[in-house]
Amino acid sequence: MNPGRAQLTPEVVQAVKSTVDIVDVAGDFTSLKRRGRKYEGLCPFHKEKTPSFHVDPDLGLYHCFGCGVGGDAIKMHMELTGDDFPAAIESLAHRYGIQLVYGPAREQQGPDISSALEAAQAFFRRNLQSSDFARGYLANRRIPDDLIRDYGLGYAPDDWQALHTALRGRLSEEALAAAGLIAISEKTNRFYDRFRHRLMFPIHSATGKLVGFGGRALGDDRAKYINSAETAAFHKGSLLYGLSQAKRAVRDQGRVVLVEGYFDVIAMVASGVPTAVAAMGTALTPEQAKLIARFADEVVLGYDGDEAGEKAAAKALPVLMGAGLGIKKAAFPPGHDPDSIRLEDGPETVKQLVEEAQDALWDHIQELIPDRAELNPRAQQKAAIQIRDLLQPIRQNLVRAGYARRAAQRLGVPETVFLRRDGVELFSQGMQRRQETRSEEEKAISLLLSPDVPTPPLEDLPPPNAFFNSEMRNIFSVFCALYSEGRVPSAREVIQAQEINSEGLDSVARFLLEESIPEESADLLPTLGRLRARWIKQRQAEIQRDIQSAQQQGDRARIDELLEEKAQLSRHRHPQMTGQIWPHRRS
Ligand code: UTP
Ligand code: MN
Repeated sequence: MNPGRAQLTPEVVQAVKSTVDIVDVAGDFTSLKRRGRKYEGLCPFHKEKTPSFHVDPDLGLYHCFGCGVGGDAIKMHMELTGDDFPAAIESLAHRYGIQLVYGPAREQQGPDISSALEAAQAFFRRNLQSSDFARGYLANRRIPDDLIRDYGLGYAPDDWQALHTALRGRLSEEALAAAGLIAISEKTNRFYDRFRHRLMFPIHSATGKLVGFGGRALGDDRAKYINSAETAAFHKGSLLYGLSQAKRAVRDQGRVVLVEGYFDVIAMVASGVPTAVAAMGTALTPEQAKLIARFADEVVLGYDGDEAGEKAAAKALPVLMGAGLGIKKAAFPPGHDPDSIRLEDGPETVKQLVEEAQDALWDHIQELIPDRAELNPRAQQKAAIQIRDLLQPIRQNLVRAGYARRAAQRLGVPETVFLRRDGVELFSQGMQRRQETRSEEEKAISLLLSPDVPTPPLEDLPPPNAFFNSEMRNIFSVFCALYSEGRVPSAREVIQAQEINSEGLDSVARFLLEESIPEESADLLPTLGRLRARWIKQRQAEIQRDIQSAQQQGDRARIDELLEEKAQLSRHRHPQMTGQIWPHRRS
C-alpha cells in the first residue's frame, strides 16, 4: 500500500534539525578527517585535490572555502541528493528514528505523477522491443544496443489510445494527464495519447529520478520533438539530459561536454566521450550552469558550428563563467552536430574534436580584437569595453586578471583598463564601501554568536535596522528575539531558527567557519557602536527630509512626531551603559 506523504509539522522539522548529525550526513558523500573541533575533507560539491570542505559539528554547519557553498545538514542533504525540503525532512527523520505522522494515501494528495512516468517508461520500452520500425530507425542511426538500454530509449506506438488503454487500469487518468502523457480532446471529450509514433527519451534529474520524456517524431509530425508536461519536477531549465548517466565520469574527469540534443549526447557517449549532457535545445540557464559546477570545473561546448550554434555558445559563455566554470569549445564544422559527424566522419573524429577543444573565452576575446587595433584608438576603445564586459562575470580574481593581461597585450592597452573597472577599483569605491559595510556587519554577528564573547545586555544592542544587509539583519533579529526570552541563544539555536533562509545560512556558515580571522572579543561593542551610529546618521537624514516635506504641507502633527523621533535618536547616540554584568551564554 502507498503510505502517502509524511506530514511536516514544525515539531518534526525541529526534531530533525536538532537530531541530525552533520558529520554523519556529510560522511555519505566524502570522507572527513577530524581537525580539532572540526572536520575537513574533499568537497562533495566540486572537484578538488586538497580538502577545503569544513564541517563544524557543534554549529551544525558546513562550508567549502573552494567553491563557497555552505549551510546546515538539511541543505547539504537537499543539494547532494536532489530531495526537496519535505523529502529531505522525511528521509532524515527515517534515518534518525524520528516519528513521522502520515497523511492520507498519496492518491488523495494529488496525482501520482512519478508512478505514471515509471509505468509509461516500461510501456515505451516494451513497444520498442516489439516495433521493427522503431528498432530499424535506431539501427539506421547506429545507436548501440547498450546505449539504448542505458538511456532507456523507448517507442510510443502510432496509435491514439495505446498508452491510455494499457495504463488506465493501474493509474488514474488524472495522474497520466498531469504527467503530460495523455490529454483530453476538446472535440470528443476523450483522452488521447500525446506521444504517438515517437522515439522516447526518458529524462532524469541529476539524482536519477525519472521526471519526464522527450519524444522525437518518427513520422511526418510537424513538431520534431515534444516534451512531457512541465511539472514541479520537470522543469527543462533546471535539468540536463544525460547528467544522471554521465555523473560518475564527470566527477572523475572534472569536466562536462555540453551539447544541444538527445542524439548528440548518445553520439558522444558512443564516440568514447562519456561526460556528455544536453541542455535540450534551450538557452543554457544559470541553474543548469550551477548544476554543472556541482560536478565539474570545466565545460567543453559541443555545439553545431553553424551561426545558431555560435550564437548559443556566445550566450552560454557569461552564464558558465558566472558559475565559475572554465570553458572550451570544440570546433564542429557548420551544419554538423556531434551525431552527424559521428555518422559521417566516425567516432574518432568526434572524440578528437572534443580533445582539441580550445579555450572558448580566449577565442572570443581574439574575435573582439580587430587586426592592427593598436593603430586605431577608436577600435581599441570599443574592443576594450567589450572585453571588459566579457570578463566581468568571472568570479575568480586570478583567472580574470590572467585573461585581462593577455587581452591587454594583444590589444596594446594597459592592463588596468580591464582590471580597474570591474568591481575592484573604478567600478566603484561604492562597491568597496558596501563590502566594508557588510564585513563590519558580519563581524558583529560572528562576535555575537561566538561562545567566547560575553553578550551585552539587550538594551545596549542596536535596533535590527542598523544592519543594512538583509541576511545579517535577519540573523540579528532572530538573535534578539531569542535573547529577549531571557537567555543568550547559542549560534546553533540561531541558525536553527526557521526564519533564516539558505542564503543567510551560506554567509553565516562562511564566516563562522573561517579560521583566519580571530576576532577580538573587545571589538564587539565598538563594532555595534559604529553600526548604530551609521544607522542614526541615515535615519536623521531621512527625518530631516520628512520634516521639510511636512513643513511644505503644513502638517504640524507630523512635524512634532518627527522632532520627537529626532530627539530620541540623539539620546540613542550615546546609550547609557547600564553597568550590568554581562550574562555568559550557556553552552
Ligand atoms: P535539433 O533540431 O538540433 O535536433 O534540436 P537533434 O537533437 O539534432 O535531433 P535529430 O538529430 O535531428 O534527430 C536539438 C535539441 O533541441 C530540443 C531537443 O532536445 C533536441 O534534441 N528540441 C528541438 C526541442 O525540444 N523541441 C524541438 O521542436 C526541437
Ligand atoms: Mn541531430
